[in-house]
Amino acid sequence: MLPPSEPARREIVLPDIHVTERLASAVAGLVRPGDVIALRGDLGAGKTTFARFFLAARGVHGDVPSPTFTLVQVYAQPACEIWHFDLYRLNAPAEAIELGIEEAFATAISLIEWPDRLGPLLPPDRLTIAFGFGATADARRVTLEGFGAWRERVAAVAAP
Ligand SMILES: Nc1ncnc2c1ncn2[C@@H]1O[C@H](COP(=O)(O)OP(=O)(O)O)[C@@H](O)[C@H]1O
Ligand SMILES: [Mg+2]
Repeated sequence: MLPPSEPARREIVLPDIHVTERLASAVAGLVRPGDVIALRGDLGAGKTTFARFFLAARGVHGDVPSPTFTLVQVYAQPACEIWHFDLYRLNAPAEAIELGIEEAFATAISLIEWPDRLGPLLPPDRLTIAFGFGATADARRVTLEGFGAWRERVAAVAAP
């Protein structure tokens, strides 16, 4: 048994972008309104790429701009909205309140790049996906970390 404060961890190798797409589809198939997916990792690690595959798997078609400057893009979907955040340019956690992040947490699915910018506002129930670079230019390594309710749910993410 894990101590209560420890997340459940899974390490996954993504040898190329197609495997990243399969992982994003697997996660997209599991989430429901109120879920928070935190996407960590350095610039170019694959956070936005993952978000685009996730959104496509949830039926978002067309243009998916990176929210680098807008900080958030909201996609209306039949089941619920999907809010895609890029908080790199957030100056203080409180600015996220002005973006409507509490509404997102209450009713929508939230994909959050640079989640550490939220500090204490980052929800305790969340799936964190940390992207790192791999052995080749097209390879990535990810660590899935299930916090709170996701400690149980992370096992349901199908291996890509
Ligand atoms: N296995 C992979 N998974 C995700 N992205 C990959 C992979 N291999 C190559 N890439 C490329 O790496 C880049 C990742 O960029 P991006 O998703 O914008 O990163 P971030 O949002 O983390 O800054 C894209 O150009 C993507 O095509
Ligand atoms: Mg990005």
